Amino acid sequence: MAADGATAIARISDQFIPIEPQSFYGRLFGFMQATTAFRVRVRRTAEGGIVRGFDEFRVNLEERMTVLDALFQILHDHDPTLVFRCACRVGMCGTCAVTVNGTPRLACRTRAAALKTGTLCIEPLAHLPVIRDLAVSLHPFFEQWKKTLPGFRPARESVNELHTIRADSKFATLSAGKRDCITCGACFAACGVKATSGEYLGPAALNRALLRILDPRDGAADQRRKIVDQERSGVWRCHTQFHCTEVCPKGISLSDSIARLKRMS
Ligand code: SF4
Ligand code: FES
Repeated sequence: MAADGATAIARISDQFIPIEPQSFYGRLFGFMQATTAFRVRVRRTAEGGIVRGFDEFRVNLEERMTVLDALFQILHDHDPTLVFRCACRVGMCGTCAVTVNGTPRLACRTRAAALKTGTLCIEPLAHLPVIRDLAVSLHPFFEQWKKTLPGFRPARESVNELHTIRADSKFATLSAGKRDCITCGACFAACGVKATSGEYLGPAALNRALLRILDPRDGAADQRRKIVDQERSGVWRCHTQFHCTEVCPKGISLSDSIARLKRMS
């Protein structure tokens, strides 16, 4: 993009407008051109789960460019076989979550320059089976998610009037910062308990259970309370390490959600 823009501006400048380096456009043009070189180490896994170790690439990124841009640059300029996932590219779909320098992050929302390092080490999310390279299967994440009965179960089967939830109600206030989960799996990958327990429901599923339990229209709160109270899989496995809360790209305080469930159980 920058190269196309450079050509266009140069052509205009040849014919019509001389661009001085210190002018507004000169500085803007210079800003657009400024890149930083990064060493990118990518963990590679072949089909069938065969780990091939790390491959190393050099990429040049502008100030505003993200880890996802780095992956696309590798794909286009160095290795068309690299596998990674993304869809929306604006932090909404949750598909691009990877581990960057040891921390689960959304690749499309992580500016490489903001990491303050010349080396990016990109690996797939932990605690999930790797399909290829950086693409993982979220099957174990959603298996736990489903166990908390995540769908709405109406208390009244047939109603003709709409149920109003006032903005100042307890449910609206408490759920405000907890309902934006994009099921990216970052909290699941960051959780220290998930590292040793496949049974543990995990932070996102527990947060979902809390939302449903708090919902005054829902009729399965007691059932969900029993599920989250299970000794081996429920809230009591959480050691309140805050790793999940630290990495959630939507700013959900998962540790708070789990603490609330503990108080309810
Ligand atoms: S709670 Fe946050 S980190 Fe966990 S899956 Fe949802 S958005 Fe991702
Ligand atoms: S591509 Fe959708 S969140 Fe990153």
